Amino acid sequence: MQNGIFENLKGKTVILGVSSSIAVYKSADLASKLVKSGASVRVIMTRNACKLMSPRIFQTLSKNKVYTSMWEDVEDWHPEHISLAESADLLLVAPATANIIGCFAAGIAHDMLTTVFLATAAPVLVAPAMNCNMYGNAFVRRNIDALKKAGVYFVDPEEGALACGAEGKGRLADVERILARANAVLGEAR
Ligand SMILES: Cc1cc2nc3c(=O)[nH]c(=O)nc-3n(C[C@H](O)[C@H](O)[C@H](O)COP(=O)(O)O)c2cc1C
Repeated sequence: MQNGIFENLKGKTVILGVSSSIAVYKSADLASKLVKSGASVRVIMTRNACKLMSPRIFQTLSKNKVYTSMWEDVEDWHPEHISLAESADLLLVAPATANIIGCFAAGIAHDMLTTVFLATAAPVLVAPAMNCNMYGNAFVRRNIDALKKAGVYFVDPEEGALACGAEGKGRLADVERILARANAVLGEAR
């Protein structure tokens, strides 16, 4: 689907979680298209994602502050991870590394993204991106299955040539597919 109209995104707050996959650059396009669809976008980047891409790109595209730590000095007394979690209509994690999926499945809350995942009552949509052997790894499969059983939504990755040189399933789903799924999840949540 190209240049779809995603009506359910309009006026919604989408927390976009960005972890450190090589597909991180595609997430900039995703952020931009979410904004164009009328969503208010709050980006949370993992520490490692910030090593692959500057938070400034997401700040500019989302027109909002980017959250990279839980430990910045803040003026408001409200813990930011809770206000962010409560503000969300949807938590969309794209790209999602094997690591972040493992943290979610294990209930580990060691940074802003994993903590917001545990604290939000909003639907969660995860778009994995990783090497095909990582995606097929028994522990990663187990983690994805556990999250699916718990009601977490997934946009499966695509087959094809991967950045690491391998060929197989693991490439981040096309941005339009992610947007269509986010739109559908928000439609269900109404
Ligand atoms: C250049 C580069 C590309 C990477 N791409 C991926 C990837 O596509 N998927 C993945 O699961 N891990 C990938 N990794 C490994 C993760 O960055 C690593 O597991 C990291 O600890 C994950 O941290 P995070 O989940 O907190 O972002 C990559 C690492 C590097 C250096």
